[in-house]
Parts: sequence; structure tokens; C-alpha cells
Amino acid sequence: MPTSRIIVTGAGGRLGAALVREWKSAGMDVLGFARQELDLAQPEQMRRALDAVNFGVLVNCAAQTNVDRCETERDEAMQVNAHAVRTLAEICKAKGARCIQISTDYVFDGAKSTPYTEEDAAVPISHYGESKRAGELALLDVSEKNLAVRVSWVFGPDRPSFVDGMVKNALNQESVAAIADKIAVPTYTLDAAQLLKPFLFDVPAGGVLHLCNGGSCTWQEYGQHALDCAVEAGMPLKARIVGPLRMADLKAFIAKRPPNTAMSPAELTRLTGVKPRDWREAVREYITRHVAARG
Ligand SMILES: NC(=O)c1ccc[n+]([C@@H]2O[C@H](COP(=O)([O-])OP(=O)(O)OC[C@H]3O[C@@H](n4cnc5c(N)ncnc54)[C@H](OP(=O)(O)O)[C@@H]3O)[C@@H](O)[C@H]2O)c1
Repeated sequence: MPTSRIIVTGAGGRLGAALVREWKSAGMDVLGFARQELDLAQPEQMRRALDAVNFGVLVNCAAQTNVDRCETERDEAMQVNAHAVRTLAEICKAKGARCIQISTDYVFDGAKSTPYTEEDAAVPISHYGESKRAGELALLDVSEKNLAVRVSWVFGPDRPSFVDGMVKNALNQESVAAIADKIAVPTYTLDAAQLLKPFLFDVPAGGVLHLCNGGSCTWQEYGQHALDCAVEAGMPLKARIVGPLRMADLKAFIAKRPPNTAMSPAELTRLTGVKPRDWREAVREYITRHVAARG
């Protein structure tokens, strides 16, 4: 029987927690599963957990997101980011439900100088990227009606990310720095919750879709804007300028990072008529309403 219930897996994470809260507060029928309730490393447990409920769409936000860990724990990364996605898609298919898999800009090699579109070839250069690409392919192999939604540089109130780290460091240190030779597009989780909504039931697009805020920036520009917004919001920062770092200088990185993975959300706009707001506006709202408000 068709149902409008939405399942969100990875409900304890940065994006999953935001989707559950925002959609619930909009009156939607949402059931979130955190890792302890649904473990992507345990296919039988996944089937048991989901067999017990009726739903019309499942949005999988759970993933092994530690890019460096994926290099050393390759089997785990493939299980969680790819094999489990096939299992989820099969469970959805058996129930006649749509499966939406959250994917990543790291499926690209980052060699392009203009924003990536859905037509561009996915050529991952890290095991994280490979495992996430394998997840996209498994999802679409089960049904072409499923949708892989690629996001990038996710930030929001449910789990600290780069922006929170920059502001925290600037509150406590005289100088801060961020990478100046890597470009992408920040994605605000609260915006993602709105932008994804049409794809749950109303716009049955299948395949791959890019979802992020508008514009693009380096990590240094992203950090600088965050600090500017924090100062505007009255936060007592010790450091106000973000200095430049080069990716090659960060010896702690294990995985290779793609240099330019800015994505274009033009296809999302074509399908929905909605243009994601610029990343700067989204960061300003986040800093004002959440970071500065927390103190
Ligand atoms: N963060 C980014 O900048 C970024 C960029 C591009 C794409 N993405 C994609 O966006 C999606 C959401 O990421 P996020 O930022 O919300 O990351 P996150 O905060 O790390 O959330 C991922 C969630 O998955 C859970 N998880 C990990 N292993 C699991 C397993 N074996 N079984 C069940 N759950 C498991 C984690 O649980 P624990 O809390 O217990 O670890 C966490 O709650 C992911 O698909 C990620 O690949 C993220």
C-alpha cells in the first residue's frame, strides 16, 4: 500500500539529524534510524529493522565519512558505502519504495576548472570516493528510478564541521589558516532539507543529482567568511584573518583530495524551479542563528 512515510538512515549524523528534525517539524511522517538501530555493516539486522515498517521513500545519510579511514579500512568502506546501499535499494524495491542515496563530490578527480555537472565522468581518486561511487552504481543498478544526491562540504547545527572548527580556533588562537588550493561548494543542511523535499514524492527524477548551495570557494575563503560573520555577530575572536595553507603541506592527510570539486546545482533548479541560495548567505545565517547564539 502506498505510504508517505519517509525513512532516514544515518539519523544521528550531521545531515540525517537535520533532515529528520526539519521534515518532522514540517508535519511530515518521518522515522529516523541511527547507527545503533540500523547498522550498515550488518545486512541481516538492516533487513529486520526495515521489514518491520511501511514506508514510501528511504533517504540514506549513513556512511563511512572519514576519508582517511576509508584508505586503511577498505573493506569496511566498501561494505558501508556500497554493499549496504545495494541492500537498502533491494529492500526498498521489494516494498515499492523509492531509495535516495546521499553521495559526494569526491566521486570526481577534481581536475576540471568549471563546476561539475551530472554529465561529467565520475573518476574517484580516493578509496572513499571509489566506495561512494560504487554505492551510486549499486543503487541505480537495482532501480534507475532511484536517486543519488551528491552533496559537498556539509555544515549545520547537528554536528560540528569545518566552519565550527574555524570559529572555535579563532576564539582561542592568535592565528588560523586553511587550505587555499582546494575548491568546492558548502552545503547547509537546513537548505538541503528544503531542496530535497520535492524529490521525495513529487519530482520522481532518477539517476544522479547535484545538491549544494550556490557559488564556490576555497577552504580559506570559506573560513574567512565564517570569521567575518562571527565578528559581525559580535563574537570575541582573537584571530580575524585566515592565512593560506597548501594541500601538499598537510602531511596528516592519508587520502588524496580532489582539488576542484565545485558542483553546479543547475539541474536541481531546472527540475524544481528553485535556485539554491549562495553559500555566503547560508553561512551567515548559520553563524548568526546557531554558532553565535551558542556563544
Ligand atoms: N560531511 C561532508 O562534508 C560531506 C561531503 C560530501 C558528501 N557527504 C555525504 O553526506 C552524507 C551525510 O554525511 P554527514 O556530513 O551527515 O556525515 P556524518 O555526520 O559523519 O554522518 C554519517 C552517519 O553515518 C553513521 N554511520 C557510520 N557508519 C555506519 C554504519 N556502519 N551503520 C550505520 N550508520 C553508520 C554515522 O554514525 P556515527 O555517528 O556513529 O559515526 C553518522 O551518524 C554521507 O553520505 C556523506 O558521504 C558529506
